[in-house]
Amino acid sequence: MSARFVNLAILTLLVLELASGVGGVLVGQQGGQWMFWLHRIGGWGLACLLCWKWGIVVRSYRRHGLTPGTVFSALVKVLFLVSLGSGLLWATTGLPRLSVPLLGSWTGLSLHVAVSLALAPLLALHAAMRWQRPRRVDLASRRAALRSLGLLAAGFVLWRVQETTAAAARLCGAERRFTGSREEGSFQGNAHPVTNWLSDPVLRLDPAGWRLRVSGLVERELVLSYGEVLALADGLRQALLDCTGGWYTVQRWSGVPVVALLERADVREGARSLIVRSATGYSRRFPLSRAGELLLATRVEREPLSSERGSPLRLVAPGYRGYH
Ligand code: HEM
Repeated sequence: MSARFVNLAILTLLVLELASGVGGVLVGQQGGQWMFWLHRIGGWGLACLLCWKWGIVVRSYRRHGLTPGTVFSALVKVLFLVSLGSGLLWATTGLPRLSVPLLGSWTGLSLHVAVSLALAPLLALHAAMRWQRPRRVDLASRRAALRSLGLLAAGFVLWRVQETTAAAARLCGAERRFTGSREEGSFQGNAHPVTNWLSDPVLRLDPAGWRLRVSGLVERELVLSYGEVLALADGLRQALLDCTGGWYTVQRWSGVPVVALLERADVREGARSLIVRSATGYSRRFPLSRAGELLLATRVEREPLSSERGSPLRLVAPGYRGYH
């Protein structure tokens, strides 16, 4: 394979990886699974290209020696290898949690995402510095088409072999959801991992002074104390919470169905969406048509929520990714 074709294929697959990686994080439902399939095929395609890329890198260092440009390229390659390696290890053997200063406990998948996102601007700079104008034969020839198809086919085959081997050998990687997340602390109430937004501190709110407010396009604005919320709490949802940090947990949550509050407040005609805003100011918007799925939970597996899990009240949004 020509160096020009290999470099172009690596760049294209890396753009595909970044797009499908970010797209995958935004997808919570099985219908978006194809995004992860693309990510897996692209990842294994990149692994195939490493053999050719290695030869190109060695020739380039022999020609240019150690310069600021080659040192920068080396940094890009190291990040690329960490990104690719962490992705492949996560999907096969699994990776242990690590403690990151100031940011707390991270799964191997969070590390993969952070390194990959850090790589994106450096990759753009590297590609601009080393850009070789593609020739027609690299893009629109029968040979280029066959090579590209061959690469995707190899990526597909390697991915399937890896999945089958991981399952047969009962490796940790085989136990992940289609989103790549691994099960942690299901049906164990407050023992499941903490779901803070990045490095937000845990708020320890006193239920006595806390209020739930329902306002907007409603006939009656509501301001409810914790006791009044508890009196309305007759809903139960078993929900799978899939955190983009690489873990998921299944719990039975009890609390107030959001529709019960909307009925009390008597939503006016014309309202189309609903914004849920937390005490930290973090908010998410939902279509009103899906309000029936949402629950404001006061308990998990019959235990009152701990502060780390959102006490006194947290939103449970089945079918959405964890950041909802
Ligand atoms: C430099 C770009 C990237 C490369 C080379 C890369 C590569 C990989 C590889 C090889 C895997 C394992 C696939 C498998 O065999 O199952 C993987 C998994 C994953 N990556 Fe990336 N990735 C990149 C960027 C990203 C980004 C930007 C995100 C998210 C924002 C992301 C999210 C994920 C997720 C969620 C998984 C788990 C899916 C699974 O377990 O199969 N990746 N990645």
